[in-house]
Amino acid sequence: MQDSDLSAVLEIERRSYPHPWKRDHFLHELSAPHSFPFVAFDESGAVVGYLCLMSLFEEAQVLNLAVAPEQRGRGVGRLLMERAVELAREKGAGYLALEVRSSNVAAIGLYESFGFIRCGLRPCYYEGVEDAVLMEKPLQGANGCSLPQ
Ligand SMILES: CC(C)(COP(=O)(O)OP(=O)(O)OC[C@H]1O[C@@H](n2cnc3c(N)ncnc32)[C@H](O)[C@@H]1OP(=O)(O)O)[C@@H](O)C(=O)NCCC(=O)NCCS
Repeated sequence: MQDSDLSAVLEIERRSYPHPWKRDHFLHELSAPHSFPFVAFDESGAVVGYLCLMSLFEEAQVLNLAVAPEQRGRGVGRLLMERAVELAREKGAGYLALEVRSSNVAAIGLYESFGFIRCGLRPCYYEGVEDAVLMEKPLQGANGCSLPQ
């Protein structure tokens, strides 16, 4: 992800989330030393999705992931997650973690297909009403969740 991708990224972000990240949030990811945001392009060079990865020592985290609504269901999310797993391994992380709304069937399906395990729950985390599901995928041959079950 580069500054020049941000207008397309922000448009996808706005169409994907009820509380979208603002430009400053992405700018922070672009400059933070342990953040590795990247985008997916279509054949014409248009941004169709992005993922923000943070990796520091043992832990890597997917902080944000979205695919343009009209491009969903075509494998872009899978491609982005494959790169995130690869990158987290390259950075030496022992596990990859994320949080997801309990109602987000598409994202949970994607993460489970990558071997993510449900490790915990933050009750009423989103807008005080919806639970956050905490998920982790062990990397580098590690086992199980780092969080208490
Ligand atoms: C979640 C998201 C990134 C998936 O992207 P995508 O490009 O549509 O996903 P893919 O086409 O690569 O699908 C990969 C897998 O995800 C799961 N999946 C995707 N859409 C699904 C749906 N509507 N219902 C159930 N599972 C679904 C399936 O396991 C699928 O694998 P399969 O095609 O072999 O069945 C996309 O729906 C999105 O941007 N949603 C809005 C933002 C968001 O919720 N981000 C995640 C926040 S934690």
